[in-house]
Amino acid sequence: MDEAHRQTLGRAVIFLGPPGAGKGTQAKQVAKYFGVPHLSTGDMLRDHVSHDTPLGRRAKPIMDRGDLVPDEIVLDMVAERIARPDGANGFVLDGFPRTLPQAEKLDQILQARSWGKPVVVHFVVDPAHLLRRLTGRRTCAIGGEIYNIYDQPPRVAGRCDNDGGELIQRADDQEEVIAERLAAYEAQTRPLVDYYRRQGMLVDVDGMALPASVTGRVLEILGTGQQAAR
Ligand code: AP5
Repeated sequence: MDEAHRQTLGRAVIFLGPPGAGKGTQAKQVAKYFGVPHLSTGDMLRDHVSHDTPLGRRAKPIMDRGDLVPDEIVLDMVAERIARPDGANGFVLDGFPRTLPQAEKLDQILQARSWGKPVVVHFVVDPAHLLRRLTGRRTCAIGGEIYNIYDQPPRVAGRCDNDGGELIQRADDQEEVIAERLAAYEAQTRPLVDYYRRQGMLVDVDGMALPASVTGRVLEILGTGQQAAR
């Protein structure tokens, strides 16, 4: 991307949608486009788990079951991350907020920073496709690039196109755990769609389109003048 043409985001963008909707895939592209942090609470928690921190030890059994980690753990982690200087020009939130208390706390954090309302991008995907997307997902162990062995395979099986890193399967991408994650989404996160829609902050995006086309649409929504890929 041409650095000279990079535009300022200047706000928080929330990516909302069920597991497998494409939040992480899109957040990487959009954060890179604007040069702002991609804040994925799932990635932050997995990082704690892999480093065996006290927080990671608390979160691991909950994540392994497919349940949501308690709000207070996630809120402390996010508040600390948002406060860092690299978020001064905005950030893309992927997987947060996920409960009403998390959304209300985020409102307070953004108000305290005198930021305007966030833009909430809601990825709408046919539920019948989510299992295939999640069981087929593989992630680069080095750079975090996301693939799908069925629909977005790497050029060389098991290796990242960018850096040759090993492609690994997430521990929670097993069918039984996926069922729990989808149930947790319906019970605890889906209500946020109405919460943000009522406030006029939410835009639905067709998450069934090709990834590049979805990125183009999100950039249009964020006012870049980019045209969605055909
Ligand atoms: P988290 O890591 O946030 O997982 P998730 O929300 O379940 O979402 P995923 O990462 O599974 O899916 P995604 O929408 O990012 O899809 P992706 O782009 O990868 O959370 C994991 C766990 O951490 C939770 O269960 C919970 O325990 C805990 N946690 C995290 N945040 C929390 C919070 N705030 N509060 C409490 N607990 C929290 O794409 C998926 C696949 O689809 C890929 O293979 C990709 O290649 C493919 N794909 C993407 N886009 C397309 C497309 N347009 N067309 C076709 N295929 C596509």
